Amino acid sequence: AAEPDLVGRHVVVSAGGTREPLDPVRFLGNRSSGKQGYALARTAAARGARVTLIAANTSLPDPAGVDVVPVGTAVQLREAVLGAAADADAVVMAAAVADFRPAVYAAGKIKKKDDRDPEPVALVRNPDILAEISGSRARPGQVIVGFAAETDEVLANGRAKLKRKGCDLLVVNEVGERRTFGSEENEAVVLGADGSETPVPHGPKEALADTVWDLVAARLS
Ligand code: PMT
Repeated sequence: AAEPDLVGRHVVVSAGGTREPLDPVRFLGNRSSGKQGYALARTAAARGARVTLIAANTSLPDPAGVDVVPVGTAVQLREAVLGAAADADAVVMAAAVADFRPAVYAAGKIKKKDDRDPEPVALVRNPDILAEISGSRARPGQVIVGFAAETDEVLANGRAKLKRKGCDLLVVNEVGERRTFGSEENEAVVLGADGSETPVPHGPKEALADTVWDLVAARLS
């Protein structure tokens, strides 16, 4: 059985991928299944934490004993995270959040017009939730964890991202069309703002999740 080292703690985990609607039938999205975030939620609950799981467009069963908050877009995810973070000891952002959304939402389905090239899709920036919660921690001592999904220069990009976002820990994993997204396994390096580097070998997403909670628990105590 897991050690109950998160008893009395409230942790917030985001999972899945945001969808940014273009019109009533189309969206810009990504390949996240939510499995890594759900593994984090399950393992935190097993270690005794009260868990709020903010789930963006997942189709996984609700983990037992976990409070699940479904969301769609990055803006909705932000509202849910900021609300739940207010009394949280730790926030782990495993969700794949769209950096941009369509500037205009068409109330009716966008039609193709004969003999005309399609209109380009204009995008605007979404809020950076991880940077926002890292910069204005809701509570002293709150531990903030981000994930970095990289396709190349994985560690160098991860280190730069950790600085830019200002979080305590950043889990750097490599992603691709058939890599990490949707699979049962992951491998990563967890970078600490204190300069620490914790490699996690290829294995179940639960194993990476438990390493994240080990590092969080050490920072909470
Ligand atoms: O869901 P699975 O299929 O199991 O796949 C798991 C995963 C690959 C989605 C997961 O392990 C992962 O890497 N999640 C983070 C994906 C991501 O959005 O990475 P990023 O490098 O674009 O963003 C960095 C961090 O900032 C993330 O913690 C992200 O949640 C956060 N972010 C990003 C953009 C934004 N506008 N707001 C944010 O808070």
